[in-house]
Amino acid sequence: MTIDQMRLSYTLAGLSEADLAADPFTQFLRWFADAGADDKPEWLEINAMTLATSDPSGRVTSRIVLLKGIEAERFVFFTNYLSEKGRQMEANPQVSLCFLWPHLQRQVRIVGTVTKTSREASVSYFASRPRGSRLSANVSSQSDVVPDRAVLERSLADWDTRYEGRDDIPCPEHWGGYAVDPSEIEFWQGRESRLHDRMVYRRAASTWNLVRLAP
Ligand SMILES: Cc1cc2nc3c(=O)[nH]c(=O)nc-3n(C[C@H](O)[C@H](O)[C@H](O)COP(=O)(O)O)c2cc1C
Repeated sequence: MTIDQMRLSYTLAGLSEADLAADPFTQFLRWFADAGADDKPEWLEINAMTLATSDPSGRVTSRIVLLKGIEAERFVFFTNYLSEKGRQMEANPQVSLCFLWPHLQRQVRIVGTVTKTSREASVSYFASRPRGSRLSANVSSQSDVVPDRAVLERSLADWDTRYEGRDDIPCPEHWGGYAVDPSEIEFWQGRESRLHDRMVYRRAASTWNLVRLAP
């Protein structure tokens, strides 16, 4: 099969106004629970989301990061503040998140503004990570050019030796969380003949307006 011949029909479900919760976070959590139900493919990370960032010149980049919680109606993830994404978010806090749950033929798209989480929250989450991940965060100056893999592995081995038998691996100052405060959240359900359902919550002062978009 060639790429242009690849197509699936989306026939699993529909999405009507009556199905939706009054607020988008309740709706998100409903769909998140659906996505993580027992019959989900084992390999699928339902908390993986595409994060799109850009700098003031308009250069856009995107990559996958993992959602680690929803705190005070903000979508939280963790990364290196000095990475390319970190530098872009420092200069331009406007971001977009996108979840794909292909087993449900669903997509959730979020537009919002990002701020750093508190150092306390970052350190607390860092401490919950596996030892190897904590060591790697100290070794990797994310997004920088490195001469070869061996440099990274040597550095990891050094840190591993230095912290042998110890659990006080430091959370780097440049490592921590971001929280996305959404202004729009779209719920997309694939439908037959590409006549999909798209329902968007748009923030209006202290409330949310719900509209349907053409697919
Ligand atoms: C499934 C998956 C999960 C990932 N989770 C994270 C994450 O939570 N935080 C992170 O910094 N990078 C994560 N990455 C790596 C990023 O996609 C990316 O390579 C890295 O953050 C560097 O991005 P940047 O150079 O654009 O800043 C993940 C990648 C994949 C494929």
